[in-house]
Amino acid sequence: MQKRTLVTCGLPYANGPAHIGHLRTYIPADIFVRSLRKEGRDTTFVCGSDAHGTPIVINAEELGTTPSELVTQYHDHFDETFKSLNIIFDRFGSTESETNHNRTTEIVNTLISNGYVFSQEVELAYCPTCNRFLPDRYVEGVCPDCGAVARGDECDQGCGKHLEPGEILNPLCKICGSKAEFRSQEHFFFRLSEFSGFLSDYLKKLGGTSNARNYAMGWIDRKLNDWCITRNLEWGVRFPGHEDLVVYVWVDAPIGYISFTEEWANENGIDWKEYWVNPDGDTDIIHFIGGDIIYHHCIFWPALLKGAGYTLPRAVVASGMVKIGDKTFSKSRGYVVWVNDDYLDKGFHPDLLRYYLASYTSHTKELNFSWKIFQEKVNNELVGTLGNFIYRTLLFAQKNFGAVPDGEIDSGVAKEIEAAKDSVIAAFNGYEFKRGIDDAMNLASFGNSYFQSNEPWKLIKTDAAAAGKVVRNCLQIAKALAILFESVIPATASEAWNQLGMGTELKNTPYDEVAVEIAAGQSLLPPSLLFAKIDDQTIKEMDAILSDRVSEGASKKHITFEEFSELDIRIGTIVQAEPIKKSKKLLKLIVDLGEGGGRNRNRQIVAGIAETHSPEDLVGRQVVVLANMAPATLFGVESRGMILAADSGGAILLVPEREVPAGVAVG
Ligand code: MSP
Ligand code: ZN
Repeated sequence: MQKRTLVTCGLPYANGPAHIGHLRTYIPADIFVRSLRKEGRDTTFVCGSDAHGTPIVINAEELGTTPSELVTQYHDHFDETFKSLNIIFDRFGSTESETNHNRTTEIVNTLISNGYVFSQEVELAYCPTCNRFLPDRYVEGVCPDCGAVARGDECDQGCGKHLEPGEILNPLCKICGSKAEFRSQEHFFFRLSEFSGFLSDYLKKLGGTSNARNYAMGWIDRKLNDWCITRNLEWGVRFPGHEDLVVYVWVDAPIGYISFTEEWANENGIDWKEYWVNPDGDTDIIHFIGGDIIYHHCIFWPALLKGAGYTLPRAVVASGMVKIGDKTFSKSRGYVVWVNDDYLDKGFHPDLLRYYLASYTSHTKELNFSWKIFQEKVNNELVGTLGNFIYRTLLFAQKNFGAVPDGEIDSGVAKEIEAAKDSVIAAFNGYEFKRGIDDAMNLASFGNSYFQSNEPWKLIKTDAAAAGKVVRNCLQIAKALAILFESVIPATASEAWNQLGMGTELKNTPYDEVAVEIAAGQSLLPPSLLFAKIDDQTIKEMDAILSDRVSEGASKKHITFEEFSELDIRIGTIVQAEPIKKSKKLLKLIVDLGEGGGRNRNRQIVAGIAETHSPEDLVGRQVVVLANMAPATLFGVESRGMILAADSGGAILLVPEREVPAGVAVG
């Protein structure tokens, strides 16, 4: 029996919109799945959103929403975005689902009872001001390995190393900026070190792309440390029996692959265990990921699966990262191209991006995004070669015959088609998407030269039957092209299929049908152009959007006078001041804002000046107040304004030159 295949894609964090970099994982995986199905192989394709981890909690806090709401919003966003790009999963779940909570709990309990989990007191970053432990992204500091600025659990600007809790040097609290101290607490560890031998054998046999295998083997050569799998957080999957701990996001996220298979299988009356607990090994599990998360998929994940008795993945396919001008994608620095704002909403067809990302360079290489190269590939290859061949064939056929003419298929043409099919299949099976697409495109070039050298426009005047034969051969090539290109540009290939009058669903058409002769007499639809050229002006505009974003990211944003006038800055007189319980830094002030303060002229404002000012000295003093600051609650105390101060080794209050009535405007 032929093996079943389960294909998964790295789960997007439900923490922000989709960018073009993400798509380098999803588009090739979708091409791969469509191609396997054309070979007649039983294939399931699952993904979902990654709902946990500290960045989501921090982001929700900053936006004044809950992690749950934030995650739901971006889950829907990714789901819709994938659909608009024709990336079609059998299941797009969420790691916050009940299935995933249950599966994670079950796996963690199994690891515990198999003896792979132990507890240990560890020194962790703790913020004395916020009175809390600082897991992962709550702390910023310096990477102990390379000295680069690092945040939480990874050295993202430097060597890319995963950082264990407590490893980061010079930690600062991400919330309040205080210097963190170290405090000890009991945490739980997975005995990763015991899996070195297993992993080194496993990695030798691991399929997929060599970059994944090689990178992971490099880590095995050093010593593997045991892995802390618990965090002090509310949001996530509870660590069994410990109300104050959740499991580290990199435990429950890949378990999502299992849970989403479970959810899909349950809906379809299939046993999910055939995929994930199959000693006979009749399912191939293939993970598509970006090159930034190889460590997690080739070290942590197989060790977890092995420890809990689950099926091991057969292949890990890791794409090179998408960059911009050799810079890693970064929202804050402006190095980002958004899928919706910058692409779909600008009216570009999804197939153009699918084509560009999959065929520009080999899958494991870095890809520097460029609108210029995007334009060149679309104009030269999709418009100039593929679109041109199909359009001129159909136009000529329609005009002179109205239907598919009679005529024998040349053995040379049939051979060319067969060879293209074989090499496309082989390339895609070897994760060589560029090569497969180039081979398909070569068939279109062959079609163009065949049309050109056989001169049907001359033949039609002297020998209509001979012209008909040339046209039927060209139509046969066009039919093969639609089938070969379906996985790459599904919408446009289906459009070509319809224009050829095929009347069936292209998606379900197997590769072997390239050899089935197109029926003479089959009526053709009036042809229309499959692709349109992208003009220089459009590319200029897109480049300008990108470079504006980068220069904005590089400097502080300029604001207009109008924007400045929106700030309501006034002089206020402090009428009351008192400390806030449990906070060393904050004071609660009541500030008289005079008539300018509106309804509540006596404003309650929380100010971070307790270390430099004592409450008694403040009463009666005049200060500068930003009166329309969005209300916020700090340590349970509401604050409706901000006291302006210079920051120089402590707060230095700004004061008016001489006393003025409370409420006088500043500006
Ligand atoms: N949530 C984790 C993955 C957990 S998998 C159990 C994550 N999320 S992500 O949103 O940052 O990335 C989602 C996928 O897109 C990952 O496979 C990641 O490698 C990939 N990429 C994200 N940015 C990318 C580029 N700039 N270039 C190529 N792939 C990129 O990682
Ligand atoms: Zn703090």
